[in-house]
Amino acid sequence: MAKRIQFARTGGSEVLELVDVTPADPGPGEVRIRNQAIGLNFIDIYFRTGLYPAPALPSGLGTEGAGVVDAVGEGVSQLKTGDRVAYAQGPLGAYAELHVLPAEKVVVLPDEVDVETAAASMLKGLTVQYLLRQTAPLKGGETILWHAAAGGVGSIACQWAKALGVRLIGTVSSSEKAELAKSNGAWATIDYTREDVVERVRELTDGAMCDVVYDSVGKDTWETSLDCLKPRSLMVSFGNASGPVEGVNLGILNQKGSLYVTRPSLNGYADTRERLETMCRDLFDMLGSNKVKVDIGQRFALADAGKAQDALAGRKTTGSTILLP
Ligand SMILES: NC(=O)c1ccc[n+]([C@@H]2O[C@H](COP(=O)([O-])OP(=O)(O)OC[C@H]3O[C@@H](n4cnc5c(N)ncnc54)[C@H](OP(=O)(O)O)[C@@H]3O)[C@@H](O)[C@H]2O)c1
Repeated sequence: MAKRIQFARTGGSEVLELVDVTPADPGPGEVRIRNQAIGLNFIDIYFRTGLYPAPALPSGLGTEGAGVVDAVGEGVSQLKTGDRVAYAQGPLGAYAELHVLPAEKVVVLPDEVDVETAAASMLKGLTVQYLLRQTAPLKGGETILWHAAAGGVGSIACQWAKALGVRLIGTVSSSEKAELAKSNGAWATIDYTREDVVERVRELTDGAMCDVVYDSVGKDTWETSLDCLKPRSLMVSFGNASGPVEGVNLGILNQKGSLYVTRPSLNGYADTRERLETMCRDLFDMLGSNKVKVDIGQRFALADAGKAQDALAGRKTTGSTILLP
């Protein structure tokens, strides 16, 4: 038997249960991974609450983890038992001791990346990779606004932006989070609990405003984010921490300066094996060269996944959070 977290109905963190299950064997093209560390992500909360529907209930949860290959299905030649690996996509169910998923979603870890770092950065780091290098191919010299700059994705973004020579203005909810974002390379921070975000962006940029806004907060920050942009620039709405952006009248993009908007996801960018490998190479280069150091702010036991999610949703975490099976 092996332990996993599952939920039979959507709701608060109390719907998460730790159960014993008979481990599934990997089918053709699949591998089974013995997780040594599991990544906690906001998307896990969207599935638990039902904002994103799980394919079936009861359902496992989580899509990010790292460990060793424990069993290999028919037709898998690129991975073998004992390989150190990580993943950030695939079926729900990473909150578990053992997880079966398609081999094409799994990558071998370079020696210099340990499993905890991998579990804390595969999903978040690949997200930063596509946001900074593909959604808006930044060259250096740009000014961007990044919400939740002291969070898991945000902490990696601050470092990656600095390495690219991009001036990242990060929003945060406390002076401690501001310090953390600055220590990670944010060019400036705005504490939105006591400062006007649009006015501060105007001051910091001498009225020029931002080339790109990266907004994962969603509903609460949509209009503020549009007001922080230069004419004809890009709004990247990539998350719903405060709830989804709904009911948008496209005319607002005209009124705010002929703006562009995109709503991207990791699965939309890492949609082929080749693209996943290219993105992983970029991420592992950043980790291996220490340009990005992953800050694991919290570690929880797998059994405490609900407590971990409450901390994440309650804005009590900084950096990445991992679950330990
Ligand atoms: N589209 C994609 O491909 C993709 C991939 C990965 C993550 N994401 C998104 O990126 C965001 C960050 O993910 P993460 O796992 O690294 O989380 P996180 O940033 O560590 O945590 C979320 C942070 O958002 C801020 N926040 C603002 N309003 C909030 C609210 N009403 N409720 C909760 N938090 C609020 C809080 O920071 P302050 O206290 O500083 O406000 C909080 O710490 C999430 O929205 C996630 O869905 C998207």
